[in-house]
Amino acid sequence: MEEDKVLPKHVGIIMDGNGRWAKKRGLKRSFGHKAGADNLEKLLKHIFNIGIKYVSVYAFSTENLKRSKEEVDYLMDLFVKYFTKKKKIFVSEELKVIFSGSKENLRNDVLAGIKEIEEATKDLKKGTFNICLNYGGRKELCDTVKKICEKVMNDEIKIEDINEDLITHNLYQDLPDLDFVIRTSGEMRISNFMLWQSSYAEYYFPETLFPDFDSKEFDKALLEYQKRNRRFGGVQ
Ligand code: IPE
Ligand code: IPE
Ligand code: MG
Repeated sequence: MEEDKVLPKHVGIIMDGNGRWAKKRGLKRSFGHKAGADNLEKLLKHIFNIGIKYVSVYAFSTENLKRSKEEVDYLMDLFVKYFTKKKKIFVSEELKVIFSGSKENLRNDVLAGIKEIEEATKDLKKGTFNICLNYGGRKELCDTVKKICEKVMNDEIKIEDINEDLITHNLYQDLPDLDFVIRTSGEMRISNFMLWQSSYAEYYFPETLFPDFDSKEFDKALLEYQKRNRRFGGVQ
């Protein structure tokens, strides 16, 4: 078995089901988001300890701005708290934290939190933790097209230079392709998550709601990944 078949290099997690987790317990949706954030901390430790190098999580989509002001405010408060409180943990775990997403419509304290944590972890090498916040796959492609057009207009590159690698290198972050994407809560859709990066990813859709998706569930997912036969268009 090839090495990349044993362990995915880049795992994406669409952390869905926080609201339903809370509803099942007769709690407000915000409790589900808090439980999801607590779960993420433990889960990340586990995933990076296994030896996986890149993890991308979908924390807030561009479309999530449609939710009530109360919920959006709660989530933004949670991100700010999470970044400040967990900064030490990321540093001690030697994880480089990066963000993917649009800076438009984000509060100043959220932007400041992003800058602070990226700066504090930029030289760390055990693994890369990419947080998709105010992220949309289509928006990322629009922003990338704009970035590339500017480079063409400034004579930094020629139109003939545009190819798949160039697009990959001009996305919000320059990351390897996703090998494995997990979406919790039983929903079987992508909801605009890392469209370019997931073109040959394996997908896994457990029924478990994200706050309950623990290390054991992750290991189960990994076993499933290891059974998949990735062909990339070839014959086998
Ligand atoms: C995912 O959980 C977290 C975010 C989208 C921010 P949801 O809030 O979508 O939970 P459900 O899908 O309503 O259960
Ligand atoms: C996708 O979940 C976004 C995140 C998990 C952050 P949603 O709950 O927003 O997706 P839909 O609306 O069910 O497609
Ligand atoms: Mg949802």
